[in-house]
Amino acid sequence: MIVGLGIDLAEVERYRFDERTRAAFARKVYTEAEMSYAMRKRNWPERLAGFFAAKEAARKAFGHAVPWRDVEVGHEPSGRPTIFLHGAARTLFEERAIARIHLTITHTATTAAAVVIFER
Ligand SMILES: CC(C)(COP(=O)(O)OP(=O)(O)OC[C@H]1O[C@@H](n2cnc3c(N)ncnc32)[C@H](O)[C@@H]1OP(=O)(O)O)[C@@H](O)C(=O)NCCC(=O)NCCS
Repeated sequence: MIVGLGIDLAEVERYRFDERTRAAFARKVYTEAEMSYAMRKRNWPERLAGFFAAKEAARKAFGHAVPWRDVEVGHEPSGRPTIFLHGAARTLFEERAIARIHLTITHTATTAAAVVIFER
């Protein structure tokens, strides 16, 4: 049974941070693993925009805000994205007896989008 659904779009240009802003965002929004994944890629602003869209989509699936860094995007060896929840988001996940989280991300040079589904 689907118990949460979220979608979000992010404009890539907004994530083409200068070094200082990127460091601030890394502290507040992104985890170390997310930053390390994105910064290995030539088109890192697309990756950061995609991760942001995934975090927003997860907030929508929950129905309210959760701390940004509590929702972490990881990847399977195939490149398929997955979500790891930490802290308050992990507690909500357990309280709501969510069994599976589905995430899909797409990005172009200008726009990134993500969809999240929570299944019980
Ligand atoms: C998945 C795939 C369709 C991506 O299509 P694309 O048009 O190049 O790129 P998009 O912008 O639409 O999507 C990119 C996102 O797809 C997701 N993705 C990558 N591989 C994926 C896979 N195997 N399954 C599901 N999603 C995948 C990622 O989230 C990626 O963005 P991110 O790395 O920033 O998180 C394409 O890479 C593919 O067919 N891969 C097959 C798997 C494969 O061959 N893996 C090789 C390594 S073993």
